[in-house]
Amino acid sequence: MEQNKQKCNCGNEKLDSTMKKILETYTKDKDNLIQILNEVQEHYGYISTENQKAISEYLNIPMAEIYGVITFYSRFTLKPKGKYNIAVCLGTACFVKGSEKILDRVKQKLGIDVGETTPDGKFSLEATRCIGACGLAPVFTVNDEVHGKATVEMVDKVIEEYMNK
Ligand code: FES
Repeated sequence: MEQNKQKCNCGNEKLDSTMKKILETYTKDKDNLIQILNEVQEHYGYISTENQKAISEYLNIPMAEIYGVITFYSRFTLKPKGKYNIAVCLGTACFVKGSEKILDRVKQKLGIDVGETTPDGKFSLEATRCIGACGLAPVFTVNDEVHGKATVEMVDKVIEEYMNK
């Protein structure tokens, strides 16, 4: 049966008011994609499928293209991040100094893979490119806190500290 749906002027009747406002701040120019994604990521902490659809319809860009952009830039995420987001740098300097071991240890400690969040929502894990602290390689961060000259033992200690917070 045909439903009588009221459409908002952004073309998507299911959007929450914040998402509508974000979209309406911008013209329907495709060049606005990155800025819109930035705002959505900042406001919601991730870019949901529903919001990807809204952006796709608003800018008339295929979903696959939007997905490609989101997955290309490490600052965009498809799932909500944890309260504590751990980012392990895999840039060249860190990689040479053994950041893969650091990453493996975090995965093992938390039981999650890159791009995942623990079931309690406390931790999420990402792998990043150089964060500009190569002198401290290998480096990982917990939210904005930088941990340099990292070792496997340091990973254990830092994660345990955050587990008890
Ligand atoms: S390569 Fe890791 S901080 Fe530069």
